[in-house]
Amino acid sequence: MSATGTRKVLITGGGTGIGRAVAEALLRAGGQVVVTGRRAEVLESLVREWPGKAYALPCDLASPEAREGLLRRAAALLGGLDGFVHSAGQVVHQPPGHIGEDALRAQLEVNLVAPLRLGEQALEVLEPGGAQVFVASTLATRPVLTSAVYSAAKAGLLQVMKVLALAGAARGVRASAVLPGVVETDMTREVRLAPGEGPLSPTESARRQEVQLASLRALHPLGRLGAPEEVGEAVRYLLGASWLTGSELVLDGGLLLRE
Ligand SMILES: NC(=O)c1ccc[n+]([C@@H]2O[C@H](COP(=O)([O-])OP(=O)(O)OC[C@H]3O[C@@H](n4cnc5c(N)ncnc54)[C@H](OP(=O)(O)O)[C@@H]3O)[C@@H](O)[C@H]2O)c1
Repeated sequence: MSATGTRKVLITGGGTGIGRAVAEALLRAGGQVVVTGRRAEVLESLVREWPGKAYALPCDLASPEAREGLLRRAAALLGGLDGFVHSAGQVVHQPPGHIGEDALRAQLEVNLVAPLRLGEQALEVLEPGGAQVFVASTLATRPVLTSAVYSAAKAGLLQVMKVLALAGAARGVRASAVLPGVVETDMTREVRLAPGEGPLSPTESARRQEVQLASLRALHPLGRLGAPEEVGEAVRYLLGASWLTGSELVLDGGLLLRE
């Protein structure tokens, strides 16, 4: 690993939002990345922008077979691997009594089981001095009425991260997590429907999105949502912070300051 931090990094969810911002932060700093996600075309757009520096490995992380050997495949593409970032995630807002079985399983698989399994792979594959960073959420520590499954998965992810930090320490492989508040990405723009609410007209959907974003903005004392680039830079810092392991970095515009 170079003195300026990890340089060869696999990023799940690296085609969009926070994961893409992590990839671009690393690429701008001279690193090389492999990005993964289900939509090959989204990943390929980054590869086209950074030829010879960014590579794509499309993969459905909900599938144990598909994620088997993923870190070794990424290491083969880059000639070694010293960083792993898990940014892939799914949220389905549903209150108790209306939590669908499929939504429950999908959120647990992508937000908790996949990062545990990939983190185990990282312990084997990452070079000494390398690091893994998991994108959790402030909802891990402060749930809302509709986030039982997502909050449980992200809270579990923090414990997984700490165990991986302990397990990797002897080889000098670090682990940490970032807990963003609400960040301006596709996930945040998705309109949250009430139980039983049907599809919305385009006009109503746009109006509801505006209301939703305004109320999410108001949760943050700094008065705005986070930008993916702000989280991307924080993750790049965590990857390269050579005496930091087992830590949780809250990056939330002050959201958790409020009761
Ligand atoms: N936005 C926020 O306010 C916020 C706040 C706190 C934490 N987070 C966390 O930040 C992370 C990134 O989210 P984001 O805000 O950047 O939203 P996003 O743009 O929707 O990113 C989610 C990513 O996860 C990937 N993904 C989802 N299911 C997958 C699966 N089964 N297999 C492989 N990849 C999968 C998606 O790619 P494909 O659809 O192509 O598979 C997508 O690239 C998530 O872990 C989220 O929980 C977000």
